[in-house]
Amino acid sequence: MAAGHDPATTGINTRLTHSGNNPRDFHGFVNPPVVHASTVLFPDAQTMKDRAQKYTYGTRGTPTSDALCAAVDALEGSAGTIAVPSGLAAVTVPLLSFLSAGDHALFVDTIYNPTRRFADSMLARLGVEVEYYRPDAGAQIADLVRPNTKVIFTETPGSNTFEMQDIPAIVKVARDSGIITMLDNTWATPVFYKPLEHGVDISIHASTKYPAGHSDVLLGTVSANAGCWKKLWDGYLTLGACAAPDDAYQVLRGLRTMGVRLDRHQASALEIAGALENHPQVAEVLHPALESHPGHAIWKRDFRGASGIFSIVLQGGGEREAHAFLDALSIFGLGYSWGGFESLAVHVDLSDRTVSARDYAGPVIRLQIGLEDVADLMADIERGLAAAKDA
Ligand SMILES: Cc1ncc(COP(=O)(O)O)c(C=O)c1O
Repeated sequence: MAAGHDPATTGINTRLTHSGNNPRDFHGFVNPPVVHASTVLFPDAQTMKDRAQKYTYGTRGTPTSDALCAAVDALEGSAGTIAVPSGLAAVTVPLLSFLSAGDHALFVDTIYNPTRRFADSMLARLGVEVEYYRPDAGAQIADLVRPNTKVIFTETPGSNTFEMQDIPAIVKVARDSGIITMLDNTWATPVFYKPLEHGVDISIHASTKYPAGHSDVLLGTVSANAGCWKKLWDGYLTLGACAAPDDAYQVLRGLRTMGVRLDRHQASALEIAGALENHPQVAEVLHPALESHPGHAIWKRDFRGASGIFSIVLQGGGEREAHAFLDALSIFGLGYSWGGFESLAVHVDLSDRTVSARDYAGPVIRLQIGLEDVADLMADIERGLAAAKDA
């Protein structure tokens, strides 16, 4: 950020607009240069031996990745941030950095499925004991803590079904037992939730979603507090999982407009969620900013807002009705991911849930509300609901 602004006191949109690079560092150009680099030259042998200069090799940071990571630090309030090639790498790199054979790790049962796949396959193969907890565990997570519990990995709200968790209660248990907490904050972004302010050690983002914002970049960031930063940085260097410079640049560019985009995603999603709540063909709307949501009080207490993705439960039916709904849509695309400018829908598969499995009245459809006009999106959803009724 340019001299004169104190990132600790400016508003979130000022931080989104100005954090990361100082234009005066590069001839006054507003944006930082995109530095494509493996090799960095040293002026003499001693400097090379001592690595006594700011940049030493492409995997260890460039002015471009530094600008992105500094911007994310200003948003998250973190001591350091790494940029990795995907959101999934932002999950796996910290887990590999902090866990060893013989450790026990707790994951919320409503976790993003590829995180579960990594835990159940690779972490288990490396000798880590993996266990799942219910999203409503709160302080009762203490019952699952063992002497070898090293990490609690969480995501709130839950993937696809949007359960809220009492993070301060979980963090208290973790702190009392010396356990590291990691939180996938992709849904809220630091605009709406700052995990480190609530005592979490490591905040994780699939920047692929709202930060990039245009469905054309894969990137992840991991931000740590002062106590965890060195270990995270060491793990990142050891794994060599650095993001590409063009992608880092695109995500920094995306951050500049993320606040205004999120305002629109939030308002449109709430309007649509509210309308669907009263629809005879919708059994349930899973959106924590609705007063009817069981986690609403926690959301209101801890979050500053809600992003644009939630789920609806159709009133009865199964896959046939879900497919009829999806196939009748013409504005919503059928695709994975979210956080881009365009609306998307997907029939979610919840068969991986173990300790928190529950019955729903009908199929669960996840809606990512994009930047289109709400009236057009509602008309599209009505077309889908009419097709599901006739299926
Ligand atoms: C909560 C969450 N975390 C991580 C990821 C992984 O992000 P990426 O697609 O960039 O690997 C996703 C992707 O959908 C996600 O939903």
